Amino acid sequence: MVKICCIGAGYVGGPTMAMIALKCPDIEVAVVDISVPRIAAWNSEVLPIFEPGLDEVVKACRSRNLFFSTDVEKHVSEAGIVFVSVNTPTKTRGLGAGKAADLTYWESAARMIADVSKSDKIVVEKSTVPVKTAEAIEKILSHNNKGVSFQILSNPEFLAEGTAMEDLKSPDRVLIGGRETPAGRKAVQALKAVYAHWVPEDRILTTNLWSAELSKLAANAFLAQRISSINAMSALCESTGADVAEVAYAIGKDSRIGSRFLNASVGFGGSCFQKDILNLVYICECNGLIDIANYWKQVVQINDYQKSRFVQRVVSSMFNTVSGKKIAVLGFAFKKDTGDTRETPAIDVCNGLLGDKALLSIYDPQVTEQQIRRDLSMNKFDWDHPQHLQPLNLSDSVNLVQVSKDAYEATKNAHGLCILTEWDEFRKLDYQKIYQQMQKPAFVFDGRNVANVVELRKIGFIVYSIGKPL
Ligand code: NAD
Ligand code: UGA
Repeated sequence: MVKICCIGAGYVGGPTMAMIALKCPDIEVAVVDISVPRIAAWNSEVLPIFEPGLDEVVKACRSRNLFFSTDVEKHVSEAGIVFVSVNTPTKTRGLGAGKAADLTYWESAARMIADVSKSDKIVVEKSTVPVKTAEAIEKILSHNNKGVSFQILSNPEFLAEGTAMEDLKSPDRVLIGGRETPAGRKAVQALKAVYAHWVPEDRILTTNLWSAELSKLAANAFLAQRISSINAMSALCESTGADVAEVAYAIGKDSRIGSRFLNASVGFGGSCFQKDILNLVYICECNGLIDIANYWKQVVQINDYQKSRFVQRVVSSMFNTVSGKKIAVLGFAFKKDTGDTRETPAIDVCNGLLGDKALLSIYDPQVTEQQIRRDLSMNKFDWDHPQHLQPLNLSDSVNLVQVSKDAYEATKNAHGLCILTEWDEFRKLDYQKIYQQMQKPAFVFDGRNVANVVELRKIGFIVYSIGKPL
């Protein structure tokens, strides 16, 4: 039986390997991690991440050909293909801090692979890494002096959270980059054979290593750029009386532009868009391409602008101060159908409002109170580094935060209501009931365009919705 091991049991490692195990009963898949609680959760009834459809797949395969373990070295040494799907956050200190990818976790995984391997292996970059990382990894692996040879492949992951299982089941494409040598090509074919169990051949693209590494950063940069572009338009819509949804629909009808990913919002979040663009910016700067770096930097700057514009709108609408006013925040996750809060725009919006001494009452169907409090007391870029596992000193402003069990509790006696995640349940709320229990005038600030502006205005709310006529 072919054995696969994946280092890193996170949002990518867990779902990706579960799908491989489901589709390839002839392959044994071990997902390993240094985090004991994370592995324990993968082996329990309550998985460590919420992802529609994931539970069913894990339950079908676990203990059959899918295993979760902290015995990293054992499973790595037994595997023929080792995926590395560890986190690659933005560096917080040293050279390139605030931009460059921190490859500490990747490097320690590579050193461990070199140390424990007794047979030849294919090592697959699943994490998103700077272009040319494979070269550095090759150098680390070649220090194995037991006559073992390694082939490095780049196989970036394109899944989006909330739709991960669908994305993995029917991917737009699977990308595999390898060395253009006979051994490199053989390794590419071996990985291709794994995906060919369920992905049509014409959707499995093979390229050289550097194209595959760079394509991942490029894809995220293009996607994020689209959001910043429509968000830039949303500001202009508000100033001119145009409606951003109508503009998005009209331009999306052009098949060269396409209709997807044009929803104006309070800003994009998630663990990757900002980090990967900053990483791209850093790579451009290192290659002396300053104008190109500045071009991509704008995508992140417009995103920051959009988040602060939202906060300013809330404060200025509520008579230039929110001090002591209760503001309900509906949604904290960075998008619907996930409990993930990494880089969620809600953090910046809440911190902005707390800066003006608002009293926040936050509700999210999937995010725990502990997570919300942790997120609001963390420094930017710190969230994906191990010091977060240490207890935090909660700042004074976090005492201004209450976490509610539902939208009705959150909005009771509130002066304003901010919608920050597009959860379906926020479309179906009884806004009449909410209006009755709020202070008057009652404000709605919809950062996701989920509420029906006309209906809400009819009820009596003062409504601000991103990119809609005021
Ligand atoms: P994650 O933080 O959820 O998971 C990473 C895991 O790696 C953690 O559980 C951590 O404990 C483990 N780890 C770190 N160092 C280790 C080591 N030396 N040995 C064993 N385990 C180790 O991260 P994620 O969201 O799964 O992302 C992983 C990579 O995939 C990142 O590079 C990210 O950019 C990329 N990516 C993420 C997504 C996404 O939707 N989250 C999508 C595509 C690509
Ligand atoms: C994104 C990409 O879509 C994936 O292809 C990629 O693999 C992944 O990043 C990654 O590398 O981590 P993800 O961040 O999970 O996936 O979710 P998206 O659906 O892309 O949403 C990202 C953010 O953009 C969310 O905050 C979302 O609300 C926002 N968004 C998305 C908008 O504001 N408007 C849109 O039209 C679409």
